[in-house]
Amino acid sequence: MWAGYAFATDFRSKRGHAYLLADQTFTERVQQFKQPGTCIHCHASVYVPYMKAGNGDLIKGFEYYNQMPYPEARKSFTHPVVCIDRHAPDTMALRITRPGFLEGIRALKASEGVSDYDVNTMASRQEMRGFVCGQCHVEYYFKGPEKRLTYPWSKGLKVDQIYEYYREVGFTDWTHAETGAPTLKAQHPEFEMWNQGIHARSGVTCSDCHMPYMRGASGPPMTAALEFQRHGQFYLDFVESENSNGFHAPQEATRILGEAIDYLRQGQLALRPAHVSAPPSPGGRP
Ligand code: HEC
Ligand code: HEC
Ligand code: HEC
Repeated sequence: MWAGYAFATDFRSKRGHAYLLADQTFTERVQQFKQPGTCIHCHASVYVPYMKAGNGDLIKGFEYYNQMPYPEARKSFTHPVVCIDRHAPDTMALRITRPGFLEGIRALKASEGVSDYDVNTMASRQEMRGFVCGQCHVEYYFKGPEKRLTYPWSKGLKVDQIYEYYREVGFTDWTHAETGAPTLKAQHPEFEMWNQGIHARSGVTCSDCHMPYMRGASGPPMTAALEFQRHGQFYLDFVESENSNGFHAPQEATRILGEAIDYLRQGQLALRPAHVSAPPSPGGRP
């Protein structure tokens, strides 16, 4: 699929945010190919180095590092993404610090008839709970010789609109090594895809699912749930660990599995607040 492009050399499974600087530093896509400093934008805590390089002007700092060769730029960044990348240190309010998103969302809003959109003053708090992730989890490309990080959103966020944008500006990521086709590499368009779905339309953001508010559960319901887990887990394991896959006593194995399901379900029910009634069981039985 990616013949002739760096992605054909090394492309791994993503992992947690704590690794984002290290994984970028050591990927063969950086070790074997020349990459620009632009890459850093989403892979380090960039706010302080950008502000320093730009003498207090975030965008100037961004431009300064974009054009630098990656190994040189890399030296100014020491930490993966941290709290200040998404929170104002004085108030802890959510904030957008990434120039790519500031400019991308402004272009998108302009296409919807809103001029001079400033995400940090004009977005609602709930919007911000998705926008903070959209700073990095998006499709992007490097524009022109300055290698400016650009989110291709000035026609909209749908794949058709993004494809049309690339057609119009005549952008190509690489030439396919086997066919010669001028091809494009899409990269993690989570924000764009999420925007097309029922969750975005219903106001459910990235943070609602990926970092939901937690409530402590303790006391008697928790004790009961843990006992049900212990019971169900052992019954399930008894069948899983026995090596005939149930053949040695099919009815007994089925009975044990049925009991396991029942204990585990009772454990879930034990944690339900009293005012939430249980859903009807399959087949309409009480
Ligand atoms: C500064 C850029 C940046 C921001 C902001 C960011 N991410 Fe990520 N995220 C990354 C990168 C880069 C990786 C891959 C890290 C790696 O594999 O080394 C990643 C990985 C992930 C993963 C997969 C790994 C895991 O831990 O399960 C999830 C899920 C994820 N991000 C969700 C989110 C959510 C939700 C938000 C918003 C609250 C968010 N991210 C904000 C850059 C970012
Ligand atoms: C617009 C933000 C952004 C930019 C710019 C960016 N990345 Fe990432 N990168 C991410 C996100 C988000 C993930 C996690 C999601 C995924 O892996 O699909 C990621 C994952 C990765 C990973 C781990 C998974 C893998 O692909 O092997 C590596 C390595 C990586 N990026 C290298 C780079 C390099 C090299 C560049 C510059 C050419 C770059 N990144 C530019 C946002 C970005
Ligand atoms: C309604 C809940 C929900 C919302 C909203 C949501 N996600 Fe997810 N996301 C999921 C689920 C569930 C998966 C796992 C899909 C699977 O692996 O089968 C997932 C997978 C991911 C992954 C890959 C994780 C991994 O470890 O491989 C990333 C990255 C991610 N989401 C980022 C985002 C971002 C960024 C947003 C907002 C723009 C978002 N998600 C919005 C539920 C949600």
